[in-house]
Amino acid sequence: MTTRVFVDCDPGIDDAVALAYLSARSDVEIAGVGAVFGNSGVEVTTDNALRLLELYGRPEVPVAWGASRPLVQPPRLAPHVHGANGLGGVELPAPAGKPCEESAAELLVRLARETPGELDVLAVGPLTNLALALALEPRLPDLVRRLVVMGGAVRDPGNVGPHAEANVANDPEAAEVVFEAGFTLDLVALDVTMRTVATAEWLTELSRVPGERAERTSEFLAFYSDFYTEILGERQCAMHDPLAAAVLVDPHLVEGSYRTPIRVELNGTFTRGMTVADLRPRPSKDERHPVRVITDVAEADFLGRMLDSLR
Ligand code: RIB
Ligand code: CA
Repeated sequence: MTTRVFVDCDPGIDDAVALAYLSARSDVEIAGVGAVFGNSGVEVTTDNALRLLELYGRPEVPVAWGASRPLVQPPRLAPHVHGANGLGGVELPAPAGKPCEESAAELLVRLARETPGELDVLAVGPLTNLALALALEPRLPDLVRRLVVMGGAVRDPGNVGPHAEANVANDPEAAEVVFEAGFTLDLVALDVTMRTVATAEWLTELSRVPGERAERTSEFLAFYSDFYTEILGERQCAMHDPLAAAVLVDPHLVEGSYRTPIRVELNGTFTRGMTVADLRPRPSKDERHPVRVITDVAEADFLGRMLDSLR
């Protein structure tokens, strides 16, 4: 059976690997890609999405330009993690294709309406495009089959603040709209992505894989792993976005999860952008539709599949 997926992303080095993971699969149709500000400005992330789909052999996928800023706050970019060009300074050839006429929100809504209940959505950047799509089509949670979000830090620390993860912190208002909307939603938060890292051995193995796709990706990851090496104290890097892609297309990799409503802190002095779950040991009185928080995955299998996608 083919999985039909819309990818909303801010490429971004780990976004790039997520696109590689999906592009390598003959059982995955990437119906469209939306770009959003985040790791870089939206003009860069849109251009990168086009370049990456050409690198990974999916030049026909429509790419739509999305939000250039969050709903309320000013944008905050991450050149220290992903490089000024979002790809660790690696220059891919200029794309042959161009972004489509529709915005990312419009493209998502059109694709969801075309095949009600069949489209999956992978969101691995700030959730602004999804919030805009919900404003255009409030029935979106019923029209899409499943939404997998890379974002948040539920029990674990954040990565852009003590409690806040980048994708949620980059547009907390949009994230709150999405968590409230009632999607069938899997949350791939830092709780699992910071424990499912590409090791030094994995990075070395990738560097030995011949071919354009693996070679360029290895170059992106050299920049990205420098950042993570500093934080983690050894050569390794978190694979946030490819892990979310794997949860979507390889659901059997999930080995642990729990269900809880999630709310986003929109005010706190130290906690704005925090993903809040009521985890007290008694039935929650929160009536918000619960999401499934992924806690454990089959790590070796995931790392092997990620490498295979680049071979
Ligand atoms: O916090 C990690 C997330 O923020 C990833 O999606 C990364 O690409 C950045 O967007
Ligand atoms: Ca991302």
